Amino acid sequence: MTLLDVKDLKVSFETHDGIVRAVNGLDIQLEAGETLGIVGESGSGKSQAVLGMIGLLAANGRAEGTVMFKDRDLLSLSKADMNHVRGNEISMIFQDPMTSLNPHMRISRQMAEVLQLHKGIGFAEARNKAIEMLDAVKIPDARRRVDMYPHEFSGGMRQRVMIAMSLLCEPDLLIADEPTTALDVTVQAQIVSLLAELKRDFNTAIILITHDLGVVAGVCDKVLVMYGGEIMESAAINDIFYHAAHPYTQGLLHSVPRLDNIDAKQLHAIPGNPPNLLHLPEGCPFNDRCEQVFDRCKHEKPHLHDIGSAHSKACHLESLP
Ligand SMILES: Nc1ncnc2c1ncn2[C@@H]1O[C@H](COP(=O)(O)OP(=O)(O)OP(=O)(O)O)[C@@H](O)[C@H]1O
Ligand code: SF4
Ligand SMILES: [Mg+2]
Repeated sequence: MTLLDVKDLKVSFETHDGIVRAVNGLDIQLEAGETLGIVGESGSGKSQAVLGMIGLLAANGRAEGTVMFKDRDLLSLSKADMNHVRGNEISMIFQDPMTSLNPHMRISRQMAEVLQLHKGIGFAEARNKAIEMLDAVKIPDARRRVDMYPHEFSGGMRQRVMIAMSLLCEPDLLIADEPTTALDVTVQAQIVSLLAELKRDFNTAIILITHDLGVVAGVCDKVLVMYGGEIMESAAINDIFYHAAHPYTQGLLHSVPRLDNIDAKQLHAIPGNPPNLLHLPEGCPFNDRCEQVFDRCKHEKPHLHDIGSAHSKACHLESLP
């Protein structure tokens, strides 16, 4: 059974200026143990898409569509049932671990509380399990460090603590929203390889959100590229890197440093700005920034269509076989 099957997810916000359409019809399929990258520039709707799925939108937000997780539609669950799913079956980690860690509590207590609450075990057993988990995320000297406070860890180590904490309840799905953005490049690479290892060891499905295509390379099986709240391209990781078919994906790839091309002068950010979600443009949402734009793009919206095995794109350009 597909672990997560999202159909036509829409997320909108009511504001004084009108309706902000942050996500406009997203489909996602994820099998157990699979890793999906969601990539796109700032404001493309990546975070609101997952927050919408798990009932964490701001008060002015609204999610529509279906989000089948195992055999339940998450959008139809009560608040209490959704809280239970979030604590036990789906975990989420954010860019800044300090938003989820309590600065005044030792890590041992924070981690033990999660287990005591969700698994009903005593403190001593829970503390041991916490040490095991800190070991699993490669925190050196976990037995001693488990009793430290969050501020005693470096940024990268804190993110490891956060990952350990999110895995305590053995979730089926881990959602990581820009977990490496605040870290320096070396630590980023370590966290990404840690996620790849954990996925192997725990068979947890992962949704990894990032604006940086380089980050998904080491860990994801497949990638969704989002722009203006919609999927522009969806494919297996190798097809995204070696057969990108959408001009937006190609633009993102040109802004990623590659090992065979580290000359920073050759990196190009895509000129222009993402669309205004209050007034989405007619036709292709990318048309005012696309180098390959032609007449049809200005008035006819391209729909996501298959162009190969598990590879689809939303663009009017003919695809080469
Ligand atoms: N409560 C809100 N009210 C109105 N608009 C909102 C609200 N929350 C988010 N938005 C809008 O939704 C759009 C999508 O935001 P989202 O956070 O999903 O972007 P993102 O792709 O995660 O970007 P980033 O890479 O910067 O995190 C943005 O234009 C944002 O301004
Ligand atoms: S539909 Fe047109 S404007 Fe949009 S990405 Fe394709 S070529 Fe560019
Ligand atoms: Mg975000």
